[in-house]
Amino acid sequence: MYSLMQILFAVMSGYVLWVVVTKLWRYNALYQTVRNFANPAPVHWFWGHLNATFMTDMRPLINMSDTEVYRMHHNTKWAITWLGFLALIQANHPDSAKAVLKLSDHKPTGPGHLYNILTSFLGEGLINSNGAKWKRNRKMLTPAFHFDILRPYVRIYNEAADITLEKIARLMKESPKSIDITDVLNLATLDVILRCALSYQGRIQEQEKHPYATAVYRIGLLMIRRLMYPWHFLSWTLYMMSDDGKEYKRHLDYVHGFADDIIAKRRKAVADDPSLLDGKHRLDFLDILMTARDESGVGLTDQEIRDEVDTFMFAGNDTTSTALKWAIYNLGKYPDEQTKVYHEVCDVMGDRPTVEWEDLGKLQKLTLFMKESMRLFPPVTITSRVLSEPLQLDGVYFPTGTSVSVNFFYLHRHPDIYPDHSVFRPERFLPENMEDRDPYAFLPFSAGLRFRIMLDEDHEVIPLYELTFRSKNGIHIRFDER
Ligand code: HEM
Repeated sequence: MYSLMQILFAVMSGYVLWVVVTKLWRYNALYQTVRNFANPAPVHWFWGHLNATFMTDMRPLINMSDTEVYRMHHNTKWAITWLGFLALIQANHPDSAKAVLKLSDHKPTGPGHLYNILTSFLGEGLINSNGAKWKRNRKMLTPAFHFDILRPYVRIYNEAADITLEKIARLMKESPKSIDITDVLNLATLDVILRCALSYQGRIQEQEKHPYATAVYRIGLLMIRRLMYPWHFLSWTLYMMSDDGKEYKRHLDYVHGFADDIIAKRRKAVADDPSLLDGKHRLDFLDILMTARDESGVGLTDQEIRDEVDTFMFAGNDTTSTALKWAIYNLGKYPDEQTKVYHEVCDVMGDRPTVEWEDLGKLQKLTLFMKESMRLFPPVTITSRVLSEPLQLDGVYFPTGTSVSVNFFYLHRHPDIYPDHSVFRPERFLPENMEDRDPYAFLPFSAGLRFRIMLDEDHEVIPLYELTFRSKNGIHIRFDER
């Protein structure tokens, strides 16, 4: 006769064996599906692509000749990056991007997934939340996404831009060869988002560096470095024991404290003067957060408000400064395009020193230029989803629950969609040239804006995969007054 312990042991062993075999079987099925996907570099048997150059310096990808890109991506709809044994499956074609983004809204936030590393920073704000929580909060925040909310901000954009230009002029006097625009633009966009969304006037641009911008920069860098070490990526405890983890926590505490401080100041202002929320004043994003109610009349908790403030400050600052930096880089790199944009701005604005809301719709060449800039340098390079139903496309099958990404960088350079992908050609976005192009071919925002600028030719920019698409060593520009 077997004892109860022996029976329990046999059942447990059988169960563990069943789980292990099932997982191995699923892993093998996934491996067989993905092994022939477009692959940016040789795969190390243990590190996968983690030790490949393109993970810390994107020049090998950016400088790939059209022929190499053609060889790698032509006729493919998927690409693969191996994070050790973890397969980062990426849609690189409008068909696969559409399939992923239409099939599922759910972001992979559990352990071992990309969004998990954002959770400690952004909590369950809109970028990171899922399901009912995301739907409820998104609905409550709908007024914050209304296009017209931007109209009164044009005055702030003008004021902030004037400060930025004065600063650039001063820095150019100190360093006539070129200046690194990274910190200048980080502070400019931080100034704008704080003033527009949070009514926070902190004289941000008067400083050379701001601790918030520095902390966000370091957080982005440390998060991507965490991906390189699977034991840090998979275990918060092990990560916290490392020097990187300790630095990360220090910056995290700072940015959360900064957001708490802004919220506390606004609460006090409203307590002192309740008429601020009486509907006669323009409500900023923070006011909307504090006053929003769901269908049952329940508002957001303090933690939810903090998560959304962190999310908006990050999403609204790092993305816009990244878009601006690469746009200025491209203005410098393509002087003919710069001239076209410059003449258009002069024609539309005449002698007026400030931009008006109505001007924005008239700046068509600038719009084409910005689109082409964001095609080649999408500020956000990747988004991920967990499939809520099976995905089947051209013989490729992924079961429900598979974590699948869309790589905007690959998508925007796909040789079947963008011939001569590396050529900077804003006319690609003229309506007549887009007639046959799938709307999912250009997704910088996922699915569902009297100086002459010249590049410092001695300074080669090293683009880098981070939270947003940054340059590893800054972007050096020489501004000549016209
Ligand atoms: C050039 C500027 C911008 C770019 C390229 C950009 C790009 C994106 C992308 C690709 C996503 C999807 C992210 C994902 O799927 O994980 C996203 C989401 C989001 N962005 Fe932006 N963004 C920009 C500016 C802004 C600004 C100025 C704000 C706020 C003031 C903002 C707030 C958000 C929020 C809240 C989400 C999450 C939306 C949701 O899932 O409900 N973004 N953005």
